[in-house]
Amino acid sequence: MRSHYCGDVNETLEAQTVTVSGWMHRRRDHGGVIFIDLRDREGLVQVVCNPEDVESFAVAERVRSEYVLQITGEVRLRPAGSDNDDLKSGKIEIVAKELTILNSSETPPFPLHEQAEVSEDVRLRHRYIDLRRPEMLQKLRFRSQITSRLRNFLDDKGFLDIETPILTKATPEGARDYLVPSRTHAGDFFALPQSPQLFKQLLMISGMDRYYQVVRCFRDEDLRADRQPEFTQLDIETSFVEEQDLMALMEQMIRELFDKVLNVSLPNPFPRMSYEEAMSRFGSDKPDLRIALELVDVNDLMKSVDFKVFSGPANDEKGRVAAMKVPNGVSLSRKEIDDYTKYVSIYGAKGLAYIKVNDIEAGIAGLQSPILKFLPNDVVALIMQRTGAKTGDLVFFGADKAQIVNEALGALRVKLGHDLEMISGDWQPLWVVDFPMFEWDDKANRWTALHHPFTAPRESDLALLDSNPGQCLSRAYDMVLNGTELGGGSMRIHQADVQNKVFTLLGIDEEQANEKFGFLLDALKYGCPPHGGLAFGLDRLAMLMTDSASIRDVMAFPKTQSASCLLTDAPSAVNERQLKELNIRLRKSPVIAE
Ligand code: AMO
Ligand code: AMP
Repeated sequence: MRSHYCGDVNETLEAQTVTVSGWMHRRRDHGGVIFIDLRDREGLVQVVCNPEDVESFAVAERVRSEYVLQITGEVRLRPAGSDNDDLKSGKIEIVAKELTILNSSETPPFPLHEQAEVSEDVRLRHRYIDLRRPEMLQKLRFRSQITSRLRNFLDDKGFLDIETPILTKATPEGARDYLVPSRTHAGDFFALPQSPQLFKQLLMISGMDRYYQVVRCFRDEDLRADRQPEFTQLDIETSFVEEQDLMALMEQMIRELFDKVLNVSLPNPFPRMSYEEAMSRFGSDKPDLRIALELVDVNDLMKSVDFKVFSGPANDEKGRVAAMKVPNGVSLSRKEIDDYTKYVSIYGAKGLAYIKVNDIEAGIAGLQSPILKFLPNDVVALIMQRTGAKTGDLVFFGADKAQIVNEALGALRVKLGHDLEMISGDWQPLWVVDFPMFEWDDKANRWTALHHPFTAPRESDLALLDSNPGQCLSRAYDMVLNGTELGGGSMRIHQADVQNKVFTLLGIDEEQANEKFGFLLDALKYGCPPHGGLAFGLDRLAMLMTDSASIRDVMAFPKTQSASCLLTDAPSAVNERQLKELNIRLRKSPVIAE
């Protein structure tokens, strides 16, 4: 139905007859001549309809926005001075000879030919129209390129693309499961995979050696701009490797991707940073290294001050008092500081103390702060020294449980970086390594796995599993890019006894372990090779590479913040008969009658 895509018609086709098909993007009536911008996947082309061509002109008069048209005509250069440099086809136009309406369209819910402010709800409800917008098309095209490059890389390196089940058993990655009731096994449920973690480990036990899969994962968790309930991983596992081998290969893959798709050279090798250093300097295990702000510990200086807000956490083994210098921060107004105080309160911070450095040479007299009266002069002088504050700077403070201080100042650091335009450079990848194996959960009163329960402890830390699990470091690694966790993985436990020990530490007793992971424990008995892998968040990678604000923008049909699909209206009620077949009785009656 066409000889060329609209966007591909250009001056090389001058004087030739072409047929194009697409959507009526915009129509302009220039007293006698009608111009139609016809749009398809590859772009726009201008079509001219002259009144002398009575038949096609009559059709042109009837077409409206988003009508589907087929147009045959001759390509000619645009008159001098009317080129449009924004279009690939901007030097030519097609003089219509035949114009056919293939389909009409109702007036679209939002215009496509102008940059109108459209709410995301409306866009999602009519996603098929939203995706017609060139920028959305571009993002999906780009994403497709990313996937294909990554696949090619892994294919070349001998990885096998193997599918794993979607109807399966719970795979713990820290979120709630999406459950699917079984009709044939009354009262039993499948879980949708949070990741193919256990299956990929089983594939290593099977001797597949190198596996990858572009795979949908399902997690029922609180959603954010970079989290969706179903998302895609590039999931990878390899046997007979050490972390250094795998990390080098993964780096190479990401470097080649950026080089080929964005023409960007990422560092070789990526910098590495321990979890401890990342938390201490940036309050985050996924630091955005483009922002030059850092946290500095001042616990030791605050232990004996009268100001309880600081001395309390300074003397608490789980507490932290940290300072963060903001260069040229004196210009922040009272209102701005109040707003930042409100911002950190989201993370549980009870306040946000600060000192403005009006004149560092003038000593205490040159400083301005509501907390100066609570702090001895020598302590203040030491803070200035330690943070390296200069005239014009401002120093913020966080004091609380270390976790709250890290989250609050870590988030404030990123916000200030953006607000004060302190982002330098385009791309800052890094590996975060040396994660602890476990994190103590105060509420549940037990250890939880920082990565997942199948991550191996460092060989040299094995004994700590018995003596001091909190100190035990794991063989996990995260790849971080510009403050986003792009991917994470680890070397796995490949011995049944170590796996059992870790389950026990996590409060999973033998019976539960057998019920939940019996198949893995069995498999570990039959010659499991040393193995490890990782998974990248493909949506996040596409989001960063297309400079999008949310992963929703790089997914064709994403869900809302409340995990629903506005387009199909899912999830939705089911009828009584279906529930009965599934042996399910609801606490509240279903809204759909038979
Ligand atoms: P993890 O849970 O770290 O590891 O997930 C791997 C990567 O998947 C992405 N990701 C998400 N993207 C969008 N929405 C979500 N809700 C979401 N959750 C995670 C992130 C993350 O880095 N099985 C292990 C991997 C392994 O050990 O090999 C796993 O799933 O980019
Ligand atoms: P207050 O004595 O509570 O009025 O606090 C004095 C200053 O300390 C104010 O600027 C508060 O914002 C700040 N502040 C209070 N609690 C904390 C905290 N936990 N961490 C950092 N600053 C705090």
